[in-house]
Amino acid sequence: MSKLIAVAGKGGTGKTTVASLIIKHLIATRRTPIFAVDADPNYTLGEALGIEVEKTIGMMREDFIGERAEIPAGMAKEAVLERQFHASVQEAKDVDLLVMGRQEGPGCYCYLNNVLRNFLDMLTGDYKYVVVDNEAGMEHLSRRTTQKIDVLLTVCDHSVKAARAAGRIAELVDELQLRVKDRFVIVNRAPDEISKEVQAEIDRVDLKVLAILPEDENITAADVKGRPLVDLPDDIPSYMALISELEKLLT
Ligand SMILES: Nc1ncnc2c1ncn2[C@@H]1O[C@H](COP(=O)(O)OP(=O)(O)O)[C@@H](O)[C@H]1O
Ligand SMILES: [Mg+2]
Repeated sequence: MSKLIAVAGKGGTGKTTVASLIIKHLIATRRTPIFAVDADPNYTLGEALGIEVEKTIGMMREDFIGERAEIPAGMAKEAVLERQFHASVQEAKDVDLLVMGRQEGPGCYCYLNNVLRNFLDMLTGDYKYVVVDNEAGMEHLSRRTTQKIDVLLTVCDHSVKAARAAGRIAELVDELQLRVKDRFVIVNRAPDEISKEVQAEIDRVDLKVLAILPEDENITAADVKGRPLVDLPDDIPSYMALISELEKLLT
């Protein structure tokens, strides 16, 4: 059974950064193969992992709805669709990446989404770890109610407002009735010690801090040069701050 780690949070807080540092650690500790899912319509996980994204589920879905997909004679629609979903998984050495892409436009997608859910359920069994970089609304996870989330990490920056937003995401997760084993907050771009006020807000929304990640110039530099975050050295402050705590959840 694969272990599912979901990363959530408002846009720009550092979800993709955290997801890729987690994947970097899983690769370094040979917890492979890993299935990475980019569920954010503004998808950037591929770049952070150094994997080129050619197809997204959204593109496949549009082709299918627009009847641009060829259905060979005698082949069931569902099998064709599954084959197309499969074709949109980008395979790299230790990580396979699936990009959801843009949310659907008008039209009924229930059938396609059901096929997608079955496909994901079937596929995730082949991996040791599944890491999901979510969009703020957590819609994609809500469609996949069959698998529980082992660890939900909500990323927020060092502010009372952000801590409150993290609390709202936790509420949303409960409203969506997602099954979550462990949940934590990651305070990103923060000083070594978080302020009294931020901590009070985190306590108030009943969350626990897993790790505090500093502002890291190595991440900025990788960003400026367009380099994958997984290729950063192992001794950078953000990565070290994350993995020492993450390791406690993995073992
Ligand atoms: N700890 C950090 N130090 C420096 N820059 C960071 C840090 N965390 C995130 N960033 C930068 O902030 C921006 C947003 O981060 P990103 O992970 O893409 O957020 P999200 O996926 O939540 O939208 C990116 O440019 C990223 O490089
Ligand atoms: Mg992102």
